[in-house]
Amino acid sequence: MKIIQITDLHISQEATNTFGVDVRQNFLGILKAIRSSAPDFIVLSGDLCFDKADPQTYRWIKSHLDFLKIPYAVIGGNHDNSKMIAGIFETEHLLVGEELYYKRMLGSHCLLFLETSAGTVSDGQLNWIERELKHLEKDTVIFMHHPPLPGGVPHMDKNYALQNMEDVQWVFFSFPHHLSVFCGHYHVEKTLSKRNLTVHITPSTYFQIDWRQEAFKVDHLRPALREINLRKDGVVDSTVIYFDGNKI
Ligand SMILES: [Fe+2]
Repeated sequence: MKIIQITDLHISQEATNTFGVDVRQNFLGILKAIRSSAPDFIVLSGDLCFDKADPQTYRWIKSHLDFLKIPYAVIGGNHDNSKMIAGIFETEHLLVGEELYYKRMLGSHCLLFLETSAGTVSDGQLNWIERELKHLEKDTVIFMHHPPLPGGVPHMDKNYALQNMEDVQWVFFSFPHHLSVFCGHYHVEKTLSKRNLTVHITPSTYFQIDWRQEAFKVDHLRPALREINLRKDGVVDSTVIYFDGNKI
């Protein structure tokens, strides 16, 4: 089962200053690569919009995704509005109040998609995750925008980390099997592990952040995708692939 995850698209409205990066062409180039790779499923793990949620941007993204005719799932990031995403991507039935979190079966794999657009995981959602995990008797894959472990990127850990990550970790660590968590938000490629948790941070399709610096600094402008293979032998095999970035 092959999944492609893309994250932190930060697609802007036409007139926005994107610091010289053609975010739309980056996205379209990556969609072209996805098409030739022919995955079973695509995940967009948040920050679809540049800064603020914008219905026209969501519609533009959806029209290009639909053209591929590959099933996909979308979750919100801190620059998104999950209710707006649900309305435009036709997943309103999955809304829990203003929150968009859900499970989805992919063959025999149950995937959980979490809501962290407010920078936190609500108590209601934490209860839901706990309940869902209780029914799962095997290793599981989770997608969420914010990493549930500190990412080792000083600027992001200090200013934009998931607020209640210890509560989330408590629920994840109570699960008796392994959890592979795929995130974005940090604009870096990183793998973090603790106890039964492996957290894969996938780089953005916009720009990457230099994790070696205390203050914010752009590392490079090569956009990326992550290919995830849920192999028959139970191994979760994942690789990040980089592309040349598009400039305006
Ligand atoms: Fe983010």
